[in-house]
Amino acid sequence: MTVATTPTRAELLTRLARPEVRGLPAYNAGLSSEVVRQRYGVQHVARLASNENPFGPSPVVGLALAHLALSAGLYPDANCRALRAAIAARTGAQPEQVVVGNGSENVLEMLCQAFLEPGDRVVTLLPSFGLHEIYPRMMGAHVQMLPVTSALEFDVDAWVAALTQGPPPKLAMLSNPSNPVGCMLDAAAFGRIVQATPQETLLVIDEAYYEYALHSPGFPDALAELRAQNRPWIVLRTFSKAWGLAGLRVGYGIASDARLVQMLDRVRTPFNVNVAAQTAALAAWNDAAYMQQCVSKTVEQREWLDAQLRSLGVVIAPSATNFLFLNLQRPNGPVAEALLARGVVVKPWKEMGYESFIRVSIASVEDNALFLQAFAEAMRAPA
Ligand SMILES: Cc1ncc(COP(=O)(O)O)c(C=O)c1O
Repeated sequence: MTVATTPTRAELLTRLARPEVRGLPAYNAGLSSEVVRQRYGVQHVARLASNENPFGPSPVVGLALAHLALSAGLYPDANCRALRAAIAARTGAQPEQVVVGNGSENVLEMLCQAFLEPGDRVVTLLPSFGLHEIYPRMMGAHVQMLPVTSALEFDVDAWVAALTQGPPPKLAMLSNPSNPVGCMLDAAAFGRIVQATPQETLLVIDEAYYEYALHSPGFPDALAELRAQNRPWIVLRTFSKAWGLAGLRVGYGIASDARLVQMLDRVRTPFNVNVAAQTAALAAWNDAAYMQQCVSKTVEQREWLDAQLRSLGVVIAPSATNFLFLNLQRPNGPVAEALLARGVVVKPWKEMGYESFIRVSIASVEDNALFLQAFAEAMRAPA
């Protein structure tokens, strides 16, 4: 005789959720500094896991924010008019072509909500920025992930094949430079991928690390290349990295058409970018010289750390970003744990096939040195 059991609340909730949501992986946001301090009993936490700007935003941001408390009772501009105009003016776009998000992840989310239906095909990179996979899957899309080559570079031939064979993908999502690998497509390779993209495919070029990549010879002028095309596209950038505003959440997209932005407007929450975020982003944007100084210091430190690690025999992917992707050739978990015990947070990669890699953000001079020392110690322990 079978005994009927009443379902638990967790089971009831699982049944209520959309099938696409039930199987979604959680985004791996890493540990907060406070948790690391408490769990590992360390005083100083070196944050090398989130690709933040270790120097923080321009001092003018602080001045702009200081006066905000008085207007905190008012809704923000739902259309981010001042910020969109400023972005448009410097990037050669029309303000109507610019969309602003609560981080560029918000723009990625809007794109998936506006364009993807269950069963649609999305092409992206492996290993990937987690949300390039999670948001499409949330909408029921099938995500085809194209691995980097053994030299940890874009596999341009595989991209061309994925774009040209079979029905056109609804969306092609490409971070250039890539996160987490750091590799970049040069102008010729980028041009090949653009030419291979069917007109029916929305091409999403995620340039979260754009300001760093400008220091790498051969980095393509994606906007110029795309503007010459008769196809829909959007280029995403962020204030979270080079501009030092990760905590306030501002990212933006420059789209082929005002029509594309209008579609995103239909799905976004009306006041998606708060007053502090809009004010800070505009102030930071007006102090590009400060941002450039931060980027130059970071690129210099990246080259230093890269050389130090190579002298220890570590395999490192080429990087056009503010981080390095290291192949430890052993499981990454124990090494990341040993680094945490020394107050150093890095990102051990979890995607299948990449469990021997860690991603290390370039931090301050002191924290980079701390990482190097802690890493050398951690790697001396038997695997
Ligand atoms: C490739 C890429 N895209 C988008 C984002 C999201 O950035 P944010 O939402 O902070 O603008 C990140 C953040 O790490 C990223 O690496």
